[in-house]
Amino acid sequence: MKRFKIAVLAGDGIGPEIMAEAKKVMMAVKSNFNIYWTFNEQLIGGASYDKFGTPLTDDVLDEVFRSDAVLLGAVGGPKWEAIEYDLRPERALLKLRKELQLFANLRPAKIFDSLISASTLKSEVIEGVDIMVVRELTGGMYFGEPKGIEALPNGTERGFNTMVYTTDEIERIAVVAFEVAKMRGEKLCSVDKANVLEASELWRKVVTNVSADYPEVELSHMYVDNCAMQLIRNPKQFGVIVTENTFGDILSDEAAMLTGSIGMLGSASLGPNRNRAMYEPIHGSAPDIAGQNIANPIGMILSTAMMLRYSFNLDRAAVIIENAVEAVLKKGLRTKDIMYEEAEGVREVTCSEMGDAVVEELVRILSTIEPDTEDQSAKFAPDAREL
Ligand code: IPM
Ligand code: MG
Repeated sequence: MKRFKIAVLAGDGIGPEIMAEAKKVMMAVKSNFNIYWTFNEQLIGGASYDKFGTPLTDDVLDEVFRSDAVLLGAVGGPKWEAIEYDLRPERALLKLRKELQLFANLRPAKIFDSLISASTLKSEVIEGVDIMVVRELTGGMYFGEPKGIEALPNGTERGFNTMVYTTDEIERIAVVAFEVAKMRGEKLCSVDKANVLEASELWRKVVTNVSADYPEVELSHMYVDNCAMQLIRNPKQFGVIVTENTFGDILSDEAAMLTGSIGMLGSASLGPNRNRAMYEPIHGSAPDIAGQNIANPIGMILSTAMMLRYSFNLDRAAVIIENAVEAVLKKGLRTKDIMYEEAEGVREVTCSEMGDAVVEELVRILSTIEPDTEDQSAKFAPDAREL
């Protein structure tokens, strides 16, 4: 029996709704894979601020450190936009990333065949797109010092942030990106703004140095403005993209939209060793649709699949969840955000109906295979633990 203690931080907005569906999915796979889950549910973000006056309490942080992995829904909303910066819901997320040293953020943007018509781009442009954005997550402008807003003598103000990277910070994210590219058998494109920024000049130099250890991975460099354009023009040219924090924030939203909806994407945030990791959908808390049971739980569900893969080396369970999602989409079930086509068999479902359908499909798939008491993941993802 494998016992895993999960810090479940549903957060704000649609967070609790999508988290409920992800938990159903986790419960559905547990007996086949001999897992015993302990869910440690805690408040985070605005929900924590409302109760404790802070978006992340020390108790919750302690709990997180005692867990095998963190599952996070989403944080933030208009209700908390006026409060001071350090107490905003988003701060909780940034603090978790920093405290847990989750420097590597993996954001896969993969097109599901049955959703090709849901993309705003032509089908021939996006068919077969399968991109992994590796975003640096604990450096750059998000955390760089100095930063602040200061008063100027003329009565106006000056706001400033610093984009800063050290050799070590670039090296470790480059290593992750090269490992991912190697594992996927794909090219690596490093994205920067080396024609303007010194931080990028160093970035390019260090990534190039690291590439000497990975002769099997083809490395290219691209300026971020060009990358934004190329993602729309010809996304199939990309395999793995590695980039710094802010560029990665922006480009991963863009890459996500290729798939038709930002609601479809999960992500993994990994630290230096595998007992520190957080999994969350890349979308936000969507306060405009919260509480209506119409959110898309797939990004959250796919995040749990990533957790099984990267934290627990249960790649087989991850693949089965991904296949179940694909099968449900193939059947024509759509949440509102991906309800683009009027075709036979295509119908709109609620958030919980989507979760139930994925579970039903999972149960069906699991009934066709032998229970997996052995850890078979190694043959699927040999390098997953070393990343
Ligand atoms: C993301 C989000 C966060 C970020 C926000 C909520 C702080 O946009 O995970 O992409 O900017 O990193
Ligand atoms: Mg973002």
